[in-house]
Amino acid sequence: MSIRSYFMAKFYDASMKKMEEACMSSWRKELLSDISGDVLEVGSGTGINLSYYPSSINKLTLTEPEPHMLKILRNNLNHIVGEKCTAIECTANALKFPDNSFDAVVSTLVLCSVDSTDKTLSEIKRVLKPGGKFYFIEHVIAKETPKLIKWQKLFQPFWIHMCGNCHLTRDTEADISNAGFKFHSIERLKSLGSPAIVSPTIKGIAVNDKA
Ligand SMILES: C[S@@+](CC[C@H](N)C(=O)[O-])C[C@H]1O[C@@H](n2cnc3c(N)ncnc32)[C@H](O)[C@@H]1O
Repeated sequence: MSIRSYFMAKFYDASMKKMEEACMSSWRKELLSDISGDVLEVGSGTGINLSYYPSSINKLTLTEPEPHMLKILRNNLNHIVGEKCTAIECTANALKFPDNSFDAVVSTLVLCSVDSTDKTLSEIKRVLKPGGKFYFIEHVIAKETPKLIKWQKLFQPFWIHMCGNCHLTRDTEADISNAGFKFHSIERLKSLGSPAIVSPTIKGIAVNDKA
């Protein structure tokens, strides 16, 4: 546990406020509006998504590996939801659940920070039921703006160091596809209220195609 991770957890919601108001809040709401069944969220952070889950879901399992974040998450959980929701300390690189456990998995602004996107996506695929859905909002490499990629590459070492291993140049759309998911929907967006280097964003739902 570092001082940096303590401060990141403590000031995470405040640091997101502008972007939440400008776009993220409505994107989260749209994404999660029709999610159903047994749902797993990876990298839940402080629990920003909590208020966007429909009350009709069957069960919500939130996971977060970072102890300071987890403490805030558990505190927020007590205030918001009841028995159908639990928070577990767990990395997305090694999910503590049996195969085919969930109808849906949610990841918002997490695949940029995991150690291995491939390992994480293969874990998400493993715990999803066949035909289960992966809901995502992730900031990505600026594929359509080469000039911006240069800035992303320049700032990336600093960003990784200061922002909890957050990478700026991941091609997460390709990673999701290469992991064997089929896109049910995908939007390529630009977030507002954030620095340009983190603005290219993908939002969508991918289906677990395993037999
Ligand atoms: C930018 S925050 C996003 C928090 C929240 N999902 C949101 O939408 O605001 C990134 C989160 O990913 C978590 N994280 C980092 N590495 C992870 C890993 N290997 N597995 C799961 N979560 C991870 C961090 O602790 C942090 O809570």
